[in-house]
Amino acid sequence: MKIIRTVEEWKKERETFKNKKIGFVPTMGGLHAGHLSLMKKCRAENEIAVASVYLNPTQFNDKKDLETYPANFDDDVKLLESAGIDYLFAPTYTVMYPDDYKYKVIETDFSKMLCGAKRPGHFDGVLTVVMKFFNIIRPTNAYFGEKDFQQYQLLKGMVEAFFLDINLIPCPIVREENGLAISSRNRKLSAEGLAKAPKLHEILAMKKSIAEKEALLTEAGFKVDYITEYKGRLYAAAFLEDVRLIDNVNA
Ligand code: PAF
Repeated sequence: MKIIRTVEEWKKERETFKNKKIGFVPTMGGLHAGHLSLMKKCRAENEIAVASVYLNPTQFNDKKDLETYPANFDDDVKLLESAGIDYLFAPTYTVMYPDDYKYKVIETDFSKMLCGAKRPGHFDGVLTVVMKFFNIIRPTNAYFGEKDFQQYQLLKGMVEAFFLDINLIPCPIVREENGLAISSRNRKLSAEGLAKAPKLHEILAMKKSIAEKEALLTEAGFKVDYITEYKGRLYAAAFLEDVRLIDNVNA
């Protein structure tokens, strides 16, 4: 696997591909089994498989969340190599934001709901960085996990709104056997927290009202950020030990 740090280096590589199919998986590092499933799909469906590892500061509204984000670059490299990824794009802030984030992609409707209502500016940062990645990498196919279902929907809307010639491929949530959606943030939980965390999915999936689900989660020790049904999907975010966990299920 070749590690690429700058746009110029990547452009030189890309010129050699001619019309080959490029698959792309953007990540913020801290890679786990959920990412691995995206990498494998990307590897299987494309001639050139590219991943990025970039902890994007513009999508963090909470500085402490950014500073404590669990990631280990050497472990990430190993996982990507084991998945057969050809190129890892790992830029710095200066490479990604030569404009120092003066230019942004903003969606004005759905990005203000659910997680967007609780994390002001979060989706501006996500849409902007992914637009930049798309323009740099120029993938044929790009892979996103459904754990971040709102993110996937917003990116799909962006691709349509700006006529981007890229197929977005949603990938199902990967769960532990106990139902817990796999996430880098799970690593921030204590052993006790990890034992409680599967309750989020268990309670969300119950045939009960939203109010009852909120009460059950609170009883189980969560601080519910929101539970909202939107267009046939039930979305939730809840804090456990100050760690913000999200999940979604078919409503
Ligand atoms: O889902 C993520 O890990 C991030 O939001 C993404 C898409 C890599 C953008 O930084």
